[in-house]
Amino acid sequence: MSTQSLLRVGMVGYAFMGAAHSQAWRTVNRVFDLPLHVRMTAVCGRDEANVAAAAARLGWQEHTTDWRSLVARDDIDLIDVCTPGDSHAEIALAALAAGKHVLCEKPLANTIAEAREMAAAAVRAEAAGIRSMCGFNYRRVPAVSLMRRMVADGRIGDIRHIRAAYLQDWITDPQFPLVWRLQKDKAGSGALGDIGAHIIDLTQFVSGQSITGVTALTETFVKERPLPQASSGLSAAAEDNSGNGTPIATGPVTVDDAALFLARLDGGAIATYEATRFATGRKNGLRVEINGSRGSVAFDFERMNELEFYDATRPSGEQGFTRILVTEPDHPYLSAWWPPGHGIGYEHAFTHQARDLVEAIATGADPTPSFTDALQVQLVLDAVIRSADHGSAWTDVEPILAEVAA
Ligand SMILES: NC(=O)c1ccc[n+]([C@@H]2O[C@H](COP(=O)([O-])OP(=O)(O)OC[C@H]3O[C@@H](n4cnc5c(N)ncnc54)[C@H](O)[C@@H]3O)[C@@H](O)[C@H]2O)c1
Repeated sequence: MSTQSLLRVGMVGYAFMGAAHSQAWRTVNRVFDLPLHVRMTAVCGRDEANVAAAAARLGWQEHTTDWRSLVARDDIDLIDVCTPGDSHAEIALAALAAGKHVLCEKPLANTIAEAREMAAAAVRAEAAGIRSMCGFNYRRVPAVSLMRRMVADGRIGDIRHIRAAYLQDWITDPQFPLVWRLQKDKAGSGALGDIGAHIIDLTQFVSGQSITGVTALTETFVKERPLPQASSGLSAAAEDNSGNGTPIATGPVTVDDAALFLARLDGGAIATYEATRFATGRKNGLRVEINGSRGSVAFDFERMNELEFYDATRPSGEQGFTRILVTEPDHPYLSAWWPPGHGIGYEHAFTHQARDLVEAIATGADPTPSFTDALQVQLVLDAVIRSADHGSAWTDVEPILAEVAA
């Protein structure tokens, strides 16, 4: 196969998102008919033995412990950033400067300044045909894509309400250790940036409207936690000093456990958002409902192959929420998968994300969400934090600067 028809990928980070993205890169050409063939050239991590094992397990041809050398390689076309937020900006900026396409996990960065720099660099790179995308994967769940299509087609009329919640419970135990997600310098923020960012992006994507202002509150229920054995992800063990007489070392939680806010959007909708890691019993409860003048649509990730639709234009005797089973070949992405009724799962949205990115690179189109789109989400996160820090005062979302948007 000539290198012209290849898209050679280098990925940084190989744990949760690294595994999900690897699955997508491995699968995408086997499911979708695409103009470019993905080659999983090399993966990068910090520990030689662990990254070597990950490369073998996940299907990467080579491995390295130095992301700079990965970015500098001539035989890599795209850098996929799957690290915590504190390294997104440095890696993505270096990759764009080296002329690589970039897929960067969400949230785009840990600060507005970083996100602005990344968005500006991505806009400059576009002129040279370099593409960038931020990994808001839930956009690529077929039921969510269908929801957007139906809203855009006017099936629910003018949007009045948006109701969004992203509920998890993985840190309700106060003994759960202080992993990177609970440290501001590594994660930027807590539930807000981790899962709140998803519902901000998803609701703006589906509604076609942008959040203009918020009133917010945040809470950190457990303020001190045991230090972890190793900085790891959603599951981790606390350092075990039991039996040696040493008290377990702890450290401060420097991010929010929960963030709640009300918002106004530029198309006239009003909205409520709730992002929490303390919703006991809720594991990955992502729910969005939109109420319009002609109907409503509702999505619940725990039933990700379904979309609820209420059509208020139906005769009153026939009205009621309809459960659409989103598995038909004319539903977004689904003609490539299984016969109707044979559902898909979590990892498929990542394969769809890879599909859309490969297609955009091959056809010279700008993929979405762009870094500028992701900067706008970051500006909403920033407004939420500023409002919460000022007694829930109404806070406008800062505009995207002209030089970035250009
Ligand atoms: N799209 C989604 O639904 C989703 C879900 C989870 C996480 N994320 C995002 O993905 C990113 C990674 O999260 P995760 O859950 O995969 O974390 P994780 O802790 O499971 O994995 C992080 C990986 O990055 C590596 N790493 C950390 N710092 C590094 C550095 N400086 N150089 C090289 N490698 C480094 C670690 O070794 C590990 O392999 C975060 O930005 C997170 O917000 C997105």
